[in-house]
Amino acid sequence: MSYERPNIQRMTGYSSGEQPQQSKVIKLNTNENPYPATPAVAKALAEFKVEDLRRYPQPFANAFREVAAQYHQVEIDNIIPTNGGDELIRLLITTFVEPGQSIALAEPSYSLYPVLAEIQDCPIKRIDLNDDWTMGAEFAEQLDATGAKLAFIVNPHAPSGLLCSVDELRRIASTFSGVLVIDEAYIDFVDPDIAHNTVALIAEFDNVVILRTMSKGYSLAGLRFAYGIGSKNLIAPMLYKTRDSYNTDAISQALAAAALADRATAAIGWQKVREERSRVALALSALEFQCAPSQSNFLLAQVPSDDPRFETPELLARECYQRLKDDGILVRYFDMPRLRDKLRITIGTAQENAALLQHLESYLRKS
Ligand SMILES: Cc1ncc(COP(=O)(O)O)c(C=O)c1O
Repeated sequence: MSYERPNIQRMTGYSSGEQPQQSKVIKLNTNENPYPATPAVAKALAEFKVEDLRRYPQPFANAFREVAAQYHQVEIDNIIPTNGGDELIRLLITTFVEPGQSIALAEPSYSLYPVLAEIQDCPIKRIDLNDDWTMGAEFAEQLDATGAKLAFIVNPHAPSGLLCSVDELRRIASTFSGVLVIDEAYIDFVDPDIAHNTVALIAEFDNVVILRTMSKGYSLAGLRFAYGIGSKNLIAPMLYKTRDSYNTDAISQALAAAALADRATAAIGWQKVREERSRVALALSALEFQCAPSQSNFLLAQVPSDDPRFETPELLARECYQRLKDDGILVRYFDMPRLRDKLRITIGTAQENAALLQHLESYLRKS
């Protein structure tokens, strides 16, 4: 006898990247930041008083909201702090989409979206990206034609790292009649020369929510803290009705506020990641991998297609993944259409990247 709802019984659940406990593993599989959080975060943690845990935390994480509002030049009513970006995605779905109503995605994208849509029993409408991961010329119209109540666009795109422009997003926001979520989990790694900033869209459109996380740019994946930026009509129902009563804890509120306030220090690490990203992309292309131009902290690398030892590039990609793993280097392999001949490689430290490249080179030279 199963007590699960039929849609829960049908679903398989989210499969997270491997999280090995050995510190020796070179971990380039879940897009974590290779550098530690800044000293300001360490100080906030050291200064946190255990006795303060006796009380419940500030319910809305207002101190953090003040810092975020100032940073983005919005009001605190435009900000909702959440227990990781994953909680914000869940809140968006449960607040704005009835079971049975559709949710739209650019395909491929973050594999948690369909899982959370399944929990809410929402059909998923997938719109395929072009072969180079750009959106088709009719993407906005196609998205609206799905009739979806909510749509997710991850930008820079995961798993390719490609960045779509603010103008493109503006066109989608104005054409789509549902709520448009722009998931900016990796935004901190975008080259600052591009001057990409979507926050102005939330004043132009009342159907846009931007997702930001402290997990990647701020090296705080273990903390579980993210936030949404949006018009008040979208933020208020999540903040005052559907959120858990104390969805972010006191320690994470203090650390996330310290981290965001000290973003100038975190930005030193973002620049190092960008430099390594260029270097690794160049080295991979010398090994005849093809990488999409990434503005993120990872590269989606298509394996060389003409290795005579392997019948298909898919077999070579699996072999590289497995041999790297056997040698203590984890990258991400997606057993999914269009991704089976590719590896998604998180940018690590210069030393980690060098080890990765050295191993790949040795596999490609000899079997
Ligand atoms: C595209 C994308 N969005 C959102 C998230 C959520 O991140 P977190 O829950 O750690 O804030 C991730 C995490 O990997 C991601 O890749």
